[in-house]
Amino acid sequence: MTHVTRLIEPVRTAPAVARPGGIRSRIGWTFVLLTALAIVAYSALPYFTASLADLAGQEVGLAPTYATVHPFVQGALYVHIVGGAVALVTGPLQFWRGLRTRAPRVHRWTGRVYLVAVAIGAAGGLVIAPSSPAGYVGFFGFGTLAVLWLVTGWRAYRAIRRGDVPSHRAWMIRNYALTYSGVMLRIWLPFLLFAPVALGQPLHDGSFANAYAAVPFLCWLPNLVFAEWLIRRRGLPSYRLPV
Ligand code: HEM
Repeated sequence: MTHVTRLIEPVRTAPAVARPGGIRSRIGWTFVLLTALAIVAYSALPYFTASLADLAGQEVGLAPTYATVHPFVQGALYVHIVGGAVALVTGPLQFWRGLRTRAPRVHRWTGRVYLVAVAIGAAGGLVIAPSSPAGYVGFFGFGTLAVLWLVTGWRAYRAIRRGDVPSHRAWMIRNYALTYSGVMLRIWLPFLLFAPVALGQPLHDGSFANAYAAVPFLCWLPNLVFAEWLIRRRGLPSYRLPV
């Protein structure tokens, strides 16, 4: 090997790291923001237009389930929806590089609002999970999601407090991937409901329950895998199980 080849060798074999400001990142970011806004408008806001009893009569979302539960659980549902909605729309702002570099104080304050929204959204989620129409699957699926939502938010906060920016970015990617379950649930559900119809099977009484039984895990597990892929692609510290 010549002297010159030895010098350029490490550069040629270094892993490709994606540039966050590239066109694909911008398209992805815009898609995430628009879908987040659409889900808040379509799924969360209706809960604030009438009482749960009235919404149950109109078959809005899960109002028929929650119209008859204990008022404490109903309160937790509203707390959860407010926290989830605020986290869903403030989250994308935190990944906007222009805001981070031009107005770091705004980034810090929206970051605090985001993490408080995650904390109250997760607390509400933990209270309502046992009432899920998906039974134990709903309890364990949404319950685990709520715990991971808290843990990843806490890790992101701790990382930035000790000045570890790469770890902070990695934990925020994981945390928002979990927040985005609010969108994915509402994409998976109609897909699972109508996929059998596309394959020639008619809808039946158990169709909704069958589709809903999959979403408490399906709405967030693939998101986490995608997040880990994105973290590695960006050259950020990927997760290693403690041994
Ligand atoms: C990421 C962590 C989240 C957890 C652990 C979680 C947990 C839950 C649980 C347990 C329910 C009740 C579902 C059932 O009874 O089967 C629920 C419903 C709901 N969640 Fe979340 N959720 C999360 C994220 C979000 C986000 C980001 C939003 C933002 C819009 C959101 C909005 C709602 C709404 C509107 C409902 C009422 C059900 C409906 O009409 O679809 N959630 N959530």
